[in-house]
Amino acid sequence: MSDKKPVLEFRNVNTHYGPVHILKDVNLRIHEGEMVCLLGGNASGKTTTLKTILGMVEPTTGEVVIDGVITNGMATAKVVELGVSMVPENRRLFKRMTVRENLEIGGYLRDDSLEEDFEHIFELFPRVKERLSQKAGTLSGGEQQMVAVGRALMARPKVLLMDEPSMGLAPVLVAQNFEIIQRINDAGTTVFMVEQNANMALSIADHGYVLQTGQIVLADTSAALLANPEMRKAYLGEVED
Ligand SMILES: Nc1ncnc2c1ncn2[C@@H]1O[C@H](COP(=O)(O)OP(=O)(O)OP(=O)(O)O)[C@@H](O)[C@H]1O
Ligand SMILES: [Mg+2]
Repeated sequence: MSDKKPVLEFRNVNTHYGPVHILKDVNLRIHEGEMVCLLGGNASGKTTTLKTILGMVEPTTGEVVIDGVITNGMATAKVVELGVSMVPENRRLFKRMTVRENLEIGGYLRDDSLEEDFEHIFELFPRVKERLSQKAGTLSGGEQQMVAVGRALMARPKVLLMDEPSMGLAPVLVAQNFEIIQRINDAGTTVFMVEQNANMALSIADHGYVLQTGQIVLADTSAALLANPEMRKAYLGEVED
């Protein structure tokens, strides 16, 4: 793993919202084909980390490197062109547009045919095919998640970012959703996923990082994190006796 070049890297990244220091000297290394999760409690800076990758938040110091290119200050559309796409927190579909239109927007940077991509998405989510002409706002939460993932895949990303994919889904849908994420990763897409459901995320990820008030406090393989007593107490729901 270590001799491969990272496809996504943070080098001592700091970010601020006005005077408030959010990310503090964050270092990340994600290699091609890996599935990596970023865990942490509310307000620890997880979404800010994803926004920093996408150029929606600019680091005050440090470097974001995507596929060998330093992307500090780059516009989001350019970052997407480098091969990064995101399934945002709460899906954020265009609710008054149809499912088909939402998917087409995901492919807006492409000038080739989208038909093959539609087929691929229908294979992953047969339900989406049945709902193509329905307004996205009328879909169930689980269906909206499928469309949000489909929309991100339409850009044919090298790196797929996901912000809390399990949020608001019933347990059976959470399990199905993680299965799909696993399949997307198996097919070669690098996945960087933010989750509060640490058990579930670590059960499919190769590596995990733990963020606490903007600092990475733990970074290890998923197996090591699952076995880590500190981790078990703070994030994996183990009760102290
Ligand atoms: N645009 C903004 N302006 C000012 N402060 C912000 C802004 N966006 C986020 N913050 C603050 O930055 C901190 C980190 O927010 P962030 O959304 O990254 O957390 P998070 O780990 O994703 O939390 P959650 O699990 O609740 O989604 C929070 O204290 C939040 O209030
Ligand atoms: Mg968040």
